[in-house]
Amino acid sequence: MKAVFIESYGCQANQADAERMEGQLRVIGYARTGNMKEADLILLNTCCVRETAEDKVYGKIGEIKSLKRERPELIFGIAGCMAQKEGEALLRRAPHIDFVLGTNKVHRLSQVVRKLEIRREHIVDVALGETELPDESEAPAVRRSAISAWVPIMYGCNNFCTYCIVPYVRGRERSRLPEDVLREVEQVVADGYKEVTLLGQNVNSYGKDHKQATFAQLLRQVDAVPGIRRVRFMTSHPKDLSDEVIGAIREGKHICEHIHLPVQYGADKLLKAMNRVYTVEAYKALVARIRRALPEVSLTTDLIVGFPGETDEDFREMLDFLREIRYDAAYTFKYSPRSGTPAATLPEQVPEELKKERLQQLMDVQNEISLAINQELLGRVMEVMVEGPSKNDGQVWMGRTRTDKIVLFPHGQEQPGDFMQVKITQPQTWVLKGESVE
Ligand code: 5AD
Ligand code: SF4
Repeated sequence: MKAVFIESYGCQANQADAERMEGQLRVIGYARTGNMKEADLILLNTCCVRETAEDKVYGKIGEIKSLKRERPELIFGIAGCMAQKEGEALLRRAPHIDFVLGTNKVHRLSQVVRKLEIRREHIVDVALGETELPDESEAPAVRRSAISAWVPIMYGCNNFCTYCIVPYVRGRERSRLPEDVLREVEQVVADGYKEVTLLGQNVNSYGKDHKQATFAQLLRQVDAVPGIRRVRFMTSHPKDLSDEVIGAIREGKHICEHIHLPVQYGADKLLKAMNRVYTVEAYKALVARIRRALPEVSLTTDLIVGFPGETDEDFREMLDFLREIRYDAAYTFKYSPRSGTPAATLPEQVPEELKKERLQQLMDVQNEISLAINQELLGRVMEVMVEGPSKNDGQVWMGRTRTDKIVLFPHGQEQPGDFMQVKITQPQTWVLKGESVE
């Protein structure tokens, strides 16, 4: 066996791609190593959604230069969103890179590596073929978890939010056929997985291209796969989350009551400038419908501060919005201009200092809300799927509720993948501490 070192950045879609790439490499004789120094092949699966993500990768590329000087036989490749976005330019900037593989070329990885094993050259394969769908049948993904599997159901994005680079680097929306998705779900369940997370940039527009099934229909079909215990999905664009989907979650036995429903901003002026297509009122109405149908639901969101033109007054409106909606958790970001996107050239860019300040305020407000919501869970007994030891303490184990809250509890006889009833004794902002009641 040869050794491959893979580092993956960014969202779950990108992590899922990395698992599929590792699957292909296994077929041609590579096993994963955690030690970059002993690798025959180094693969960085990159993200370009914010500048900080790119900076990390450029740092890593620099680090690898000396390794490559010591061992010229080492193969070094860049895949993922930055590869797609930069293409040839990466080679000019760092000639010690051997290959650059675009987001639609995941399935070509083993061919590229084989070619390089025989003859060294620079390979750049980044054509954004709109109709190409990776074929997972020949090389099953090597998954990070043994109990929870990511299953991509669609690729690409058609929304063109004005801040976002993703539609340019991932191309137009393409949905996998329902029978392909179901076959993969059945396979992972047969392999012992308890949970699947259906992935897409915008899962609610699943099937709009091939018309073989809607997302709601797909959810019901996945829910009915014998042996499955939990079904999750992300990400949902608020403009496309239909009542059928809400109904499928309510009626589904295994579909978890958690919706990641990024609002991005809580004021109409900014929503418009971001091209989010919905208004604050429409979003609130959607949340009300969701909560009426699913009283136990947890809602999470993404928020961006410092978008061009954001004023103190807009920002205050957003904080009020947050206090009204009360998300269980929010992922908060400072706006990062991405060249090629419309927002990058807008006047009225917000100074970095102000972005930082607003980000901090936003996090303070959200943390207060998260804590208050979690405190309401004190004394409740919740179903937890056990994942394994917590990061800091091997005696303390970690699992998740159906609502995607992290629960920490003293370890007894449980194994990863077990389901247990946990009484919440100490709710905190980010985690719930509890004890088994069995
Ligand atoms: N700057 C900051 N955050 C961004 N996101 C996407 N593009 C940018 C950007 N240019 C955030 C959005 C999205 C999440 C994955 O990343 O909130 O939902
Ligand atoms: Fe990063 Fe976005 Fe690409 Fe995901 S889709 S890897 S977050 S740039």
